[in-house]
Amino acid sequence: MNVHTPLDGLIDDRPSDKAFHVSRSAFTDPDIFDLEMKHIFEATWSFVGLETQIPRPHDYITTFIGRQPVLLMRDGEGNIGCFLNTCRHRATMVCPFKRGRQKFHVCRYHGWAYDSAGRNISVTDKDDGQYPADFDNADRNLFPVARLESYRGLIFASLSADVPSLSDYLGDARAFIDLVADQSPVGQLEFVPGDITYTFDANWKLQFENGLDYYHFNSTHSSYVDILAQRTKSGDATGFTSERADEVEGQGSFNFSNGHAVNWSIKRQMRYGRALASDPDGLAEVKARVGDTRLKWMLRQRNLTIFPNLQIIDISSAQLRTWRPLSADKTEMTSHCLAPVGESPAARRFRIRAYEDFFNPSGLATSDDNVMYEFCQTGYAAQAGDTLGHLRGLDPGIGLPGDHVSELGISPVDYAFGKPGFGGETNFHSGYREWRRLLQHATGEAADA
Ligand code: FES
Ligand SMILES: [Fe+2]
Repeated sequence: MNVHTPLDGLIDDRPSDKAFHVSRSAFTDPDIFDLEMKHIFEATWSFVGLETQIPRPHDYITTFIGRQPVLLMRDGEGNIGCFLNTCRHRATMVCPFKRGRQKFHVCRYHGWAYDSAGRNISVTDKDDGQYPADFDNADRNLFPVARLESYRGLIFASLSADVPSLSDYLGDARAFIDLVADQSPVGQLEFVPGDITYTFDANWKLQFENGLDYYHFNSTHSSYVDILAQRTKSGDATGFTSERADEVEGQGSFNFSNGHAVNWSIKRQMRYGRALASDPDGLAEVKARVGDTRLKWMLRQRNLTIFPNLQIIDISSAQLRTWRPLSADKTEMTSHCLAPVGESPAARRFRIRAYEDFFNPSGLATSDDNVMYEFCQTGYAAQAGDTLGHLRGLDPGIGLPGDHVSELGISPVDYAFGKPGFGGETNFHSGYREWRRLLQHATGEAADA
């Protein structure tokens, strides 16, 4: 397949000219979607789950990497494996459930069976003489994914072996995973039971952008902003930070290699509380363990995107969301309430209530965003030329005061910082550059073939 033509001109990225445009067709073209699935989602690291989702031998969950179903399970020895969720006989999905605990997975079609290490342990009526004589020599185990690694209990898998180590892939984005995991006295994260999966009729990159988009908050979520104002007026707000009195307030972002990015804000007075701060003893324990500087960053709003399919939003509560693109104009989202293992009942109660308030699809934010994605998808049909949605923050007047980078010990490839509510859009650029790099890598392979 010649992949040159559909990729031409999709991203106009000219930093010296202060230009960055993404073509509308990147969101609508089914051929581009197919390339994304093959050369991005099925060719790089994808988040597949938490180790704490499968704590015991034989626990499993199922999910997808790109278009391909996978079965993530812990075997009898406690090792975690990830396998394509497809029977070696005639491809039936071996496990049709989202989660559970089974020593064996028996294919529902003809009864072949696999153990929790992915080994085939039974082929129905194999010994009745009806299979070819050399059948025993065939490999009948489940297919393992090419690469499987964890960082702080977050499990990532790759269907391609041609990827860097997970540690290198995550790079400095690890510092922002650490800021979530280290809120736990035992350094582990878990999901509060009750994940929700839903779809929206729009391209997955709208979610990728939105998770880094501070600019939309006051307009898209205006009803929530009104509610926050009412709560502040009535004394119900429980905002908490640990900012110094002289800390410069503002909103910023860091871009990392491999498409990852984070946005964050510095406010001496938040309009909402924090689960971490709702338990004074727990807060004191964390402060003693991580120190003032990292506690300060823990209490700052942080929206982290790990390219291509993971976002962790740590605000009043914490949300982990992951998506499965279904077509150029349909995406499946799964949203979890993320929590530090071992937090106090008071903190957990606060976390769940705050998650319901803002993040849960029945809350005050998700439906707002989904409507905007679908409005965008409809708007792409207007062939009026390039959109202008990736330029905010390219102004050279915006810099990075203070020592944010050195405080965190990171070396971002790019950054931006502006006044409160700034909402720069340059933190989309690293994801789009990685998007283009992976597709161009595929272009080169196709050209060589
Ligand atoms: S397809 Fe699984 S046993 Fe036949
Ligand atoms: Fe939003």
